[in-house]
Amino acid sequence: MNALVTANPLREPLDAPRPDPAIPAFHARMPAYSPTLLFDVPDLARRFGVRRVLVKAETRRMGLPSFKILGASWATYRAICDHLGYEPVPWRNINELAANLAHLRPFKLATATDGNHGRAVAFMARLLGFGCHIFVPRGMVEARIQAIRSEGALVTVVDGTYDEAVARAAEEASPTCLVISDTSWPGYEETPARVIEGYSTIFTEIDDAIDASGLDRPDMVVIPMGVGAFMAAGVEHYRQDGDTTTIVGVEPVDANCVQASATAGQITNVPGPHESIMVGLNCGTPSLIAWPLVSAGVDWLVSIDDETARQAMRDLAEVGIVAGETGAAALGGFAALAGDPAWTSALADPEAATVLLVVTEGATDPRSYTEIVGRGPETVGRVITAVS
Ligand SMILES: Cc1ncc(COP(=O)(O)O)c(C=O)c1O
Repeated sequence: MNALVTANPLREPLDAPRPDPAIPAFHARMPAYSPTLLFDVPDLARRFGVRRVLVKAETRRMGLPSFKILGASWATYRAICDHLGYEPVPWRNINELAANLAHLRPFKLATATDGNHGRAVAFMARLLGFGCHIFVPRGMVEARIQAIRSEGALVTVVDGTYDEAVARAAEEASPTCLVISDTSWPGYEETPARVIEGYSTIFTEIDDAIDASGLDRPDMVVIPMGVGAFMAAGVEHYRQDGDTTTIVGVEPVDANCVQASATAGQITNVPGPHESIMVGLNCGTPSLIAWPLVSAGVDWLVSIDDETARQAMRDLAEVGIVAGETGAAALGGFAALAGDPAWTSALADPEAATVLLVVTEGATDPRSYTEIVGRGPETVGRVITAVS
């Protein structure tokens, strides 16, 4: 296992802002919304010598194979409200919202993606009856491109990295096209802030499931990081009211822009090519608006190699959770931390500790999943029961 584990040198006390209280009610009006499952996985707890390992499985969310629709849907809605200058008249479901917005057509959404965010934006555009243009980096596998096209979007492959695709997508902004990016840059901060807010629903659901089942709150939370937007939502949740939950961020070794930036003391670009199989994490630069939260709020930064992610996919399949390459990163990062000399300072009393892993993605490339795990995602049977 090739891993790089560092304590975040920029960590400082933080009291994070609370997200908009309207968000859960917004998501509840999305089609096929229901909270995703939280699993208690005793096999993993035994293996790592901790009291409990909880896995929040974002492997299927509103019919899509990742959590990203939570941010994309809320950010799209808020960007449309800003564009209109008012909230659409009250609506009960997405069809009513689409009817309320029909006068905008022809209208378009655009973004760059390394897979999941773009598919989620395309899904939103389809539901609202809008066009959609998605920009992807060179080398994205056909299965992920096809998944975006299946939502009716036009997909353009940019001859460059994810960061270059982001720059290209930004050029699409016009009076009839909203750019719904999950990363931010100077002058483009409002929509990515809404994306972060939208992710808060995951953590609200986790709290609800923990409260309903009488489990302890986690002592350690492990979250994968690309540009750090999802981690910013995690920091917002676990850095309120003096919460001291240990937060661990996981990245691929050759796209560890958060770890490199923390070491440098400022936002730093990790040049490409970024060729990890954890494609959702192949980002060279942290998001500008995520950075203040991530840099001050995360405790441990862990970079892992692809073999660690592959092993994590196999281990999760073993307990009945189908996780794609990016989705398995939280378990890979946790395993790397548990095997590192830093482990003894990361958790004061492991045997009493509850660890929460956020598995952010299902099998987005079924062929590669089958090669890595040795059987197809549809053959993985659940051997654990959900907490809620
Ligand atoms: C499945 C998955 N997990 C985690 C992430 C990381 O999210 P962020 O880029 O907000 O750090 C991504 C980003 O695309 C993703 O697709």
